[in-house]
Amino acid sequence: MNNVVTTQRDGSLAIVTVDNPPVNALSQAVRVGIAEAIIQAGKDPEVKAIVLICAGRTFMAGADITEFGKPPLPPALPDMIDVLDQCPKLLVAVIHGTALGGGLETALGCHYRCAVPSAKLGLPEVKLGLLPGAGGTQRLPRLAGVANALEMMVTGNPVSAAVALERGIVDHIVEGDLKEGALAYARSLLAGGASVRRVRELPVNTDGLPEDFFEQQAAGLARAARGYFSPFRILQCVRNAVEMDFDAGMAAERELFIECLASPQSAALRHVFFAERQVSRIPGLDKGIQELPIRAVGIVGAGTMGGGIAMNFVNVGIPVHLVEREQSALDRGLKIIRGNYERTMKKGRLTAEALEERMGLISGSTDYADLAKADLVIEAVFENMALKKQVFGELDRVCKAGAILASNTSTLDVDEIAASTSRPEFVLGMHFFSPANVMRLLEIVRGEKTSPEVLGTVVKLAKTIRKTGVVSGVCFGFIGNRMLEGYAREVGLMLLEGAAPERIDAIVQGLGFPMGPNAMIDMAGVDVRAKVIGEARELGILPADERYEAVTLKLAADGRFGQKTGAGIFRYEPGNRKPIPDPVVSELIAAEAARLGVPQREHSDEEILDRCMLPLVNEGSRILEEGIAFRPGDIDIVWLYGYGFPAFHGGPMHYADTVGLPNVLARMKEFADRDGDAFGYWTPSALLEKLADAGDNFASLK
Ligand code: 3HC
Ligand code: NAI
Repeated sequence: MNNVVTTQRDGSLAIVTVDNPPVNALSQAVRVGIAEAIIQAGKDPEVKAIVLICAGRTFMAGADITEFGKPPLPPALPDMIDVLDQCPKLLVAVIHGTALGGGLETALGCHYRCAVPSAKLGLPEVKLGLLPGAGGTQRLPRLAGVANALEMMVTGNPVSAAVALERGIVDHIVEGDLKEGALAYARSLLAGGASVRRVRELPVNTDGLPEDFFEQQAAGLARAARGYFSPFRILQCVRNAVEMDFDAGMAAERELFIECLASPQSAALRHVFFAERQVSRIPGLDKGIQELPIRAVGIVGAGTMGGGIAMNFVNVGIPVHLVEREQSALDRGLKIIRGNYERTMKKGRLTAEALEERMGLISGSTDYADLAKADLVIEAVFENMALKKQVFGELDRVCKAGAILASNTSTLDVDEIAASTSRPEFVLGMHFFSPANVMRLLEIVRGEKTSPEVLGTVVKLAKTIRKTGVVSGVCFGFIGNRMLEGYAREVGLMLLEGAAPERIDAIVQGLGFPMGPNAMIDMAGVDVRAKVIGEARELGILPADERYEAVTLKLAADGRFGQKTGAGIFRYEPGNRKPIPDPVVSELIAAEAARLGVPQREHSDEEILDRCMLPLVNEGSRILEEGIAFRPGDIDIVWLYGYGFPAFHGGPMHYADTVGLPNVLARMKEFADRDGDAFGYWTPSALLEKLADAGDNFASLK
C-alpha cells in the first residue's frame, strides 16, 4: 500500500481512499495505489463490495497535468481503469467536489456511481487541447446518450449531480455525510442483489439521433471551434463509439489522444492553465499579509467605465456609491446600468427580482463627502492628469484612513497621481477593460509606494469580482496597451505601404484572433486611439516619425471615429458591426502615403503576420526586462483576456517560444536590414537576445 491510497474494511465493504492534495490528481502514485488496492480487495474473499472515495475537498480532478509532456509513467490511466472495470466485486465510486477528466473516467470505470448534491462532473480535456483519453469518449455516450456526451466533451463544461443523475451518469445522490451515505448505498446495492455492471458492456443508444447527426455537429464545430484541433477528434471518437465495438473505439481514442497531447495547441493551452493560476502569486508578497476588508466601494465618474465597473461589484453583493459632477451625468450612468441589466433579463439570464436587488445596491450623488465610508474608491473620470490629481486630492480629503484609492487610467503615471495624496501607499491602478462588466482582464498597477497589503487586497479582490488580475508596474500603457503600440505602428506602416486593411485583418484572424487590428481600432474608437497617440507624443515617448499612425490620425481628423460614427477605417451599415472596405479610405491612405513619400510594396502573408506579432514579442520582452511584468505567462494572460490573442497559441510570449527565439531575432534583423532601423523599431530587447544566445526561451524564466 502506498501513502496516497489506503484501504480500510467496514464489514464486507472495502473502502479505498485516495488522498493526494490539493485536488487528488491521478499522478503515478495514485494510479499504482488504486490499481493495487482494487486488485487486493477484489481477491479478498471477505469483501463483497468496494467503495472508491477521496479525502479532502474533491474527488479526483483529472490526470496529473504536470506529467504531460514527460515520458509516460506506468500504469497508464486506461490500464488502471481496466483494472476497475474487470474487478470481480461490486465497485462504487463516491463523488464529491469535482470529478473531472480522468477523475470522471475513473468513476465511469467503476460499476456504480453515487454523488453528493453539490458535486460537479465533467470532461474538460478540450480546454487543455486534449480529448478524454481514458475511456471517456467510449463510456460516457453509453450512459448519457450520444448528444449529451458529445456536448459535455466539446464544451468541457461540467454538469451538476442532479443533471448527472437525470442523464444516468450517476445512479444515486448521497444526502448527508459523504462516507456514511456512500457505505449505506453500497450496502443497499448488495442487499438488493445488484450485480457487477460494466459500462463497456452497455449498448450505445442511438434512438432519435438524426441520420446526419455527425455531419451537423461537424458543421457546428467548424463555426464554434474555428482553429481548434481537439474538438474535431472528440467528434471522431464519439462517432467511433457508435460505429465500432468498445475495444476498437478505445484503441482509436488512445491514438487520437496521443495526437492531441503531442499537438502544439495542447502545449499552449496547458501553459495557459498554469499561467492563469500563477498570476495571483506575487513575488515578494508575504503570504501572511493582512488583506483589508472591502465591504463598500465608491466610484468617481459614471461614464462608460464607471458604470461597468460598478456592475462588477454589485453582481457579487458589494454595494457601490457613484459620484458624478452633475446630476444629469449620474442619471445617465444609472440608466445605462439598468439598461444593461434589463438586456440580460430579456435574455433570461437574470430575474426581475435580482435586477432590483442589484440596482438597490447602487447609490449615487454629486457629493464627494458621500465616499467617506468606502473601503475602496475607483476613479474613472476623463483621462486627464490635472483632473485626476484634483480628484485624488479631494478623495484624500474625504476618504477614511485605510481606504484604498485606485485609478482606472489607461495610460497616466500612477505614481504621479499617488503623489497628489498624503497616502501614496494606499494608491494603485485598477485598469479595467471595456466593456468593464464583461471583459475578464484587470491590470493591477502597483505604484512605487503601493503597500503590499493594498496590492494583496486588490489581487484577491480581482478574484472576488471574477476577474483575472495581472499585476503590472508603472509605465505608459502598462503591459497590454504598451505592447499594442508596436503592433498598431506596424499595421499603420503596412497600410501606408499599400496593404489593404481587410487583408491585414484577415491574416491576423487567420491566426485565431476574433478580430483584426483595424476592426479593433474601429470598435474601440479611432478618436480614442488618436488621443492616446497625441498624449504619448506630448510625453515625448513616440519617435519623431511622421508616418507613425498617420492613417489613424487622418481618419480621426476627418471625423471617421469607427463603429460609433458608421465609418472609420472600414464603413458600417446602420445597426451592423460588419466591417466593409471603403474606397474612400483607400484614397485617403494613398494620399497620406504620397504626402509622406512612403514607397508602395507587395507584402507576403508571412510578412504581414510577422510585422504584427514580432513587435508584441519584442515589447513583451522589454516589459520583462524592466520588471514591469513578473512572468512571461502574465503577459500572455493579458493578451488572451484583454486583446483576444488565440488561447491555442498560448499568448505572445509562448508564441515566440514556439516560433523559436533565434527565428524571431533573424526575422527582425531582416526587416531592419531591408527598411533600416532609424527609430529602433526592430532593435531587439536585450533579454530576447540573451535568451536566444543561451539557447533558452521565455518559458525558462518561470
Ligand atoms: N493536475 C495537476 N495539478 C492540478 C490539476 C491537475 N489535473 N488540477 C488542479 N491542479 C493544481 C493547480 O495547478 C493548483 O496548483 P497550485 O496550487 O500549485 O497552483 C491546485 O491544483 C489547485 O487548483 P486551482 O487553483 O485550480 O483550485 P480550484 O479549487 O480553483 O479548482 C479544479 C479546482 C476545479 C479541480 C481546477 O483546478 C481544475 O479545473 N483543474 C483541472 C481539471 C482538468 O482539466 N482535468 C482534466 C485533466 S486532463 C485528463 O484528465 C486527461 C485524461 O482524459 C486522460
Ligand atoms: P467617459 O467620458 O465615458 O466617463 C467619464 C465620466 O467622468 C463622465 O461621466 C464625467 O461626467 C465624469 N467626470 C468627469 N469629471 C468628473 C469629476 N470631477 N467628478 C466626478 N465625475 C467626473 O470616460 P470613460 O471611457 O469611462 O473613461 C474613464 C477613464 O477610464 C479614463 O481614465 C480612461 O482612460 C479609462 N479607461 C477607458 C477605457 C475605455 O475603453 N473607454 C478602457 C480602460 C480605461
